[in-house]
Order: sequence, then C-alpha cells, then structure tokens
Amino acid sequence: MLNYLNSDPEILEVAKLEIGRLQNNLELIASENFVSLAVLSATGSVLTNKYAEGYPGKRYYGGCEYVDMAEELARERAKKIFKAEYANVQPHSGSQANMGVFMALLNPGDTILGLSLDHGGHLTHGSPVNFSGQIYRAVGYPLNKETQTLDYNIIEDLAVKEKPKLIIAGASAYSREWDYKKFREIADRVGAFLVCDMSHPAGLIAKGLLNSPLDYCDVVTSTTHKTLRGPRGGMILIGKDKENPLGIKTLKGDRLKLMSEIFDSMIMPGIQGGPLMHVIMAKAVAFGEVLDDSFDAYAKQVIKNAKQLSNKLSEYEFKIISGGTDNHLMLLDLSNKNISGKKAEKALEIAGITVNKNMIPFDTKSPFVTSGIRIGTPAVTTRGMKENEMDVIAGLINKAVENNENEDILNSVKKDVNELCSKFPLYKELL
Ligand SMILES: Cc1ncc(COP(=O)(O)O)c(C=O)c1O
Repeated sequence: MLNYLNSDPEILEVAKLEIGRLQNNLELIASENFVSLAVLSATGSVLTNKYAEGYPGKRYYGGCEYVDMAEELARERAKKIFKAEYANVQPHSGSQANMGVFMALLNPGDTILGLSLDHGGHLTHGSPVNFSGQIYRAVGYPLNKETQTLDYNIIEDLAVKEKPKLIIAGASAYSREWDYKKFREIADRVGAFLVCDMSHPAGLIAKGLLNSPLDYCDVVTSTTHKTLRGPRGGMILIGKDKENPLGIKTLKGDRLKLMSEIFDSMIMPGIQGGPLMHVIMAKAVAFGEVLDDSFDAYAKQVIKNAKQLSNKLSEYEFKIISGGTDNHLMLLDLSNKNISGKKAEKALEIAGITVNKNMIPFDTKSPFVTSGIRIGTPAVTTRGMKENEMDVIAGLINKAVENNENEDILNSVKKDVNELCSKFPLYKELL
C-alpha cells in the first residue's frame, strides 16, 4: 500500500518511520487505537475527491449518488449500534460535534455546566481557552474530594445555583461509570438540556458494557476514533424515546424532526462546509466492524485489560484515581512516586511506552507539568494483548518510573518493550 508513496521518498520515509514507531512501542494513550486495514483503505479511498455539501438526497453538487450510499450506510449503522433515532456522521471531529450541538441549543452568554477540565473534563466542555468557555458562561463541576468520583449532590447544588441551560456529561479522563438517570433528574429540575459526550467509552457503550447515555440525554456526541476504533471524526446522535422512565421530554414525532433539522443545519452550513466523504465511508466500515460479534470480545477484553493493569499497578503502589476503573482507562496519581506527570511521560517515552501527562483532581501542578498520567488499553488490546501482557506492562511502567533518571535502565526497559511488541505485529501488510 505504501508503494504509491514511492513518488515521494521523503514522505515514504515518514510513513515507514511512523509504522515502525507503532510496531515497536506500547501505545497506552487512552484516546488512541489502531484501525483495521479496511478502515484504512476507506480513509485512503477516492471518495476524498468528492464535494458533497448537504445530506444524502439533498446535495448542492451533482455526482453524489455513491457518496450518498456511503453516508446512508454510516448513518444507519450508527443508529443500529446505539439504538438511536437520528445520526449525523458529518462532524470532522469530536470538537466539531460538540460545537454544532452547543451552537444549535445555546445563545452566546448562556451557562453550561460540565466536568471541570482538571477533574477529567474536555476542552470543549467549557475551557477558557476554547470556544466553549469563550462564547458561553462555563461552570465546572468537580469530583468528590474523598472518593474522586462524580458526586451527584455537588452537581445538583451547582445546577440549582448556576441555572445552566445545558449540562454536559462525559469526560476525557474519568475511569468510572456515569449515572445518566441522575443527570436527567438534575437537568429536569433546572430545565436544562442534557448532552453527553461519550467520545471515550463509545465502543464499550456500543456493546452494552457500560450505561447508554442515549436512554436519558437529549443529544449525544462522540468521536469515532477512540474505543470505537474508526477513522478520526465525530458524530451526533439522538436516542429513541423508549418509554422514558421519568416521563420527560418526548423525542417522538415533531420534536425529533425539529432537533434533527436543527443539528443537521448547524453542522452544515452552520459550522462546516463539504463533508469528508472518505472519512464518512471509513466510519461506515468501522461501524460495520462494531456491529460484528467479534467486537464484543474486543470491547470486553479492553475492560478486562484495564482492570488487570490497574490492579497490578496498585500492587506497585501506584495510586489509581478513584481506586480503579470501570472502563478502558485509568489515571495515576504520581505524587507518592516523587515524579511529575511531565517527567514520567518523558521517561516512559524513552522506554518505548507512550502515555500522556494528565492533571489529577485538585492538582497543585500546572497542566504543563501535572501530577498524573493517563493510561488506556484500547490500542494494546487491538494488538491482541491480554491480562498476562498487562502484568508485564505494569512491571515495565514501574521500572521506568522508579528509574526515570537512569538511561541504562530506561534503555533496558525499551528492549523488553520491543521484544513484547515483536510478538504482536502491526500493519506488517503495509510494508
Ligand atoms: C471527551 C472528548 N470530547 C471531545 C474530544 C475532541 O475530539 P477531537 O480531537 O476529534 O476534536 C475528545 C478528544 O480527546 C474527548 O476526549
């Protein structure tokens, strides 16, 4: 497949180096994954050529009959996976999906309530350096200081005090389950829209391994490239209005139609132009893979691996925020290890282990230094690694962190990492 890059040796070299990096390192960044060759082929397909502003059957350009089929398949498969009534698969990214939803439901200056960035929330949930914190009045809910978990009393008190027009559930670095029913009750008490950004655990929710936000939220956003294992991108979903246990906000009939039209027109022409049809086709391929039974085993193994890694790291006296994990990631508090997140990230990188520094709840260090690191299992699970490998990885992380200033030891860990990785080949078909 890389043959086609022979015409550009400089770029061919870059592509080969990146494949080598992926092959020889342990990818533990919680938001990353390795797509299948089918998803990769679709992303690199001729659909990249097509302008298709609009939606299937209603385009501003001719020649859209086949890209329409790709987008229809992506929408239908997304709806089937999540038992949704509506899907928009055009957002170029998770951030665009969130921007589309906020712009559709809010006016500038309205109040939004989301998990604080330093407690695991995402930039687009109200950070002052992001549109969400600049256009809207953003209030953050913290985690409970003792349990380091969501505290619905704190969230409710803040909601009553701040009267948000929109409450957002979901996070980038939170390892526990979400109670969307409680969020719904709080949102209804204050008359707020309830949105969930399920970007991180979407692939696990897809297989019923975690609660589904679609049962309770007015609208749900997601990226498609994390646990869902698709191409980089975003989407917007609205759930079925099943017999809503709380008897609120029907999404049947006119309301669903209205919401669909509002979101469709906010994504295009509101905030985007031509959709990335090659990426939309790759989303369809990835969703097809999620619908396949084999994805059940994958998603279950992602969680098993995360639990195993978290237990094993605890044995090495790493403090796991909230005491463990229910999903695909964990946040380590390194304060007892006398090392910052920044330094640990660097030492692990030298040792061939890729993680990211991350703030921990009530962190006293800046976001550029941090007291923690975030670790996730989606990518190594895609390579076929299981619990035994998680035990080995925990030992390697411990050795690298404990000897973070000793280059010889870090290099010896790297050798062990390379050896482990060689047993789980990746993208060898491409070379
Ligand atoms: C919860 C959450 N929402 C949104 C995003 C943004 O996605 P993107 O990078 O595709 O804009 C991320 C990315 O990490 C995320 O973790």
